[in-house]
Amino acid sequence: MSEFLLKKITKLKEKKIPNPEIDLRVMINNSKLKNKEIIFSDFKLEQINIKKFNSLFERRLLNEPISKIINKKSFWKDSFFVNHDVLDPRPETEGIIEESIRVFKNRKEKIKILDIGTGSGAIAISLAREFLDASIVAIDISKKALKVAKKNIIDKRLENRIHLKNTTIDLINEDFDLIVSNPPYISKNELSNISREIKGFEPLIALDGGIDGLMFYRDFAINVPRLMKPNSYFIFEIGETQFDACREIFANSVLKFEKKVSDLQKKDRIMIFSKI
Ligand SMILES: C[S@@+](CC[C@H](N)C(=O)[O-])C[C@H]1O[C@@H](n2cnc3c(N)ncnc32)[C@H](O)[C@@H]1O
Repeated sequence: MSEFLLKKITKLKEKKIPNPEIDLRVMINNSKLKNKEIIFSDFKLEQINIKKFNSLFERRLLNEPISKIINKKSFWKDSFFVNHDVLDPRPETEGIIEESIRVFKNRKEKIKILDIGTGSGAIAISLAREFLDASIVAIDISKKALKVAKKNIIDKRLENRIHLKNTTIDLINEDFDLIVSNPPYISKNELSNISREIKGFEPLIALDGGIDGLMFYRDFAINVPRLMKPNSYFIFEIGETQFDACREIFANSVLKFEKKVSDLQKKDRIMIFSKI
């Protein structure tokens, strides 16, 4: 490997950046001058715009996540534009798409979907790709996040099927076959201990779930049932320690608890309710 690359890897390691080789490969390829993948074994300095590379590299040394540096994050079957105004879509959130597909087996059904707190639009867009005749309302309180969602929706040519609204659920007056959400669910305590990569570069409004992290679930228990059609489903993400508290919050709800789903690390992640 070239001395240049070795030096850069050492520097990333000194700053305790996880996966230094992978990140370096991404930064090198995002600074390339020609449209051909650069591999480390035949890397030459002339292949990259060194000024651009240095700027990406300095940002990574300051712990900025690679996704925010290159404005790209993969989720489900697509790559999405991301910036500091939205939470990076996470692999564990893909469980919402998997469970939606499990519940609505007919992908051509004309279902109406609501995505609460759409952020980059990753969930709404992925569902639009899976359910070809679905119409989707995607809401967010953040105007800046909706700008990002709009860009992703236009990039994927889904403007006719996903309708963005700058609002909160208490102001919605329609009913849906499927409601999904990955709400902010970090508690005040957790927020003070969260990693620099998250705290410094993800918007607080996408993380802050109130004092105990459960604020949005309480709001859901009050507001979601009236937005659900008969035979509809509500599928949402929870924090890994929040299952019991969420069961309690929905204990007196008219909704029927269907199941919880854990991620690959066996952490509780998704809850599913239905309305009969
Ligand atoms: C955890 S992020 C999820 C983003 C995206 N759905 C995802 O899974 O990657 C939560 C989103 O909820 C939005 N949000 C926060 N409070 C809200 C509220 N009261 N009503 C609607 N959206 C809200 C935030 O702006 C943020 O985009």
